[in-house]
Amino acid sequence: MAHIENNTDLLNRAIETFNSASATLTQYYSALEDKVKLLTEEVDHKKQLLDSILDSIDVGVVFFDRGGVVRIVNSAAGNMLNIDAGGVIGGTSIHASIKGEVIVPENGRPFYALASRSGVKGRDGDIIGHVLIFKDITRLKQLESESERNRRLTAMGELVMKIAHEIRNPLGSIELFAGLLSSDLKGTDHGDYANRISGSVRSLVNTLDNMLRFTKEIKPRLEYHCLNDVIRETCDDFKELFASSKIQIFFPENGAYWLPLDRGLIRQALINILLNSVHAMPDGGTVNIRVKDAFENVEIAIKDNGVGMDEEIRSRMFEPFFSTKDRGTGLGMSITASIIRAHKGHIDVISEAGKGTEFIITLPITEFKGEGMKELL
Ligand SMILES: Nc1ncnc2c1ncn2[C@@H]1O[C@H](COP(=O)(O)OP(=O)(O)OP(=O)(O)O)[C@@H](O)[C@H]1O
Ligand SMILES: [Mg+2]
Repeated sequence: MAHIENNTDLLNRAIETFNSASATLTQYYSALEDKVKLLTEEVDHKKQLLDSILDSIDVGVVFFDRGGVVRIVNSAAGNMLNIDAGGVIGGTSIHASIKGEVIVPENGRPFYALASRSGVKGRDGDIIGHVLIFKDITRLKQLESESERNRRLTAMGELVMKIAHEIRNPLGSIELFAGLLSSDLKGTDHGDYANRISGSVRSLVNTLDNMLRFTKEIKPRLEYHCLNDVIRETCDDFKELFASSKIQIFFPENGAYWLPLDRGLIRQALINILLNSVHAMPDGGTVNIRVKDAFENVEIAIKDNGVGMDEEIRSRMFEPFFSTKDRGTGLGMSITASIIRAHKGHIDVISEAGKGTEFIITLPITEFKGEGMKELL
């Protein structure tokens, strides 16, 4: 009897031990489950963080495992290679080839890239795959070639300026001697030829002056001059050109306006306007010039009845290098406007296609308070 009780006791204790071991095991299991959950969450979180970081950079990242299978493709890589990351992961190709500095996607736009490929080591130092990193540098390449082009253009501009400068002086002598010849041979055919030479040389000199003026700040040296005389002399210089172009020029005598101006610059501004009028009247026409008071200002109006301008040309005519002529530099009116602005004046234009053009220059009389004024008063 005592033997049976002993066995029951033993069994009970064994069951108790089993139960408590099972309870401990269950506890361990649930603790383990919690830990796994936590770790899984942590891994998920880290993966998400890694994905977000990889997707927020503008550098393409593609990871291949040891077997050459694509495992990671970030969004920048997807965009640049024009591939759907989901469709490439698990395969062994990213559907693009690298040719020198250029990456050529199978279905996308080739682009200049800065690319590198390096091995990726695991914790134990073994290579677990390799990563391809690349950045689109097409814009950078464009800027590089633009700046190279600008450097060349600047160098070319400097060279042109030097040449213009070199040509300018001998042209002045040619113009002078042609002028002398034409007055010596007045009334003869040869006199006429000499006239033509001096007229052409004068417009060429004006073009060179515009080019040389364009690169420098315009600083007028103001002195008192009679504006009417400056206009008349300028018109006289071109009278042969006007005559041969069948252009009549009218400039009625109406007083003398003395004002502070840079004679050379104002002449250049007038020449640009007059030459434009000549070009605008290929079959001849008239140019009317008048000068009048306009409340502490003097107004010069120069009107032609040439081809005129439509709205588009009128709005762009003062832009440097804007020209509608085959052989125009497009500097004339931009320099003219700068000259007038440098005299603290302004220039307006009224023009209609087919009817003609009128330039109105306004120059201040009272602006100048310099030395020249004292001498002249
Ligand atoms: N009087 C005018 N009549 C008609 N169009 C004009 C007149 N003046 C200027 N323009 C227009 O404005 C443009 C710009 O004139 P601008 O004098 O600056 O250059 P350009 O005459 O073409 O060349 P450049 O004077 O440098 O030889 C001309 O090409 C022309 O289309
Ligand atoms: Mg012009």
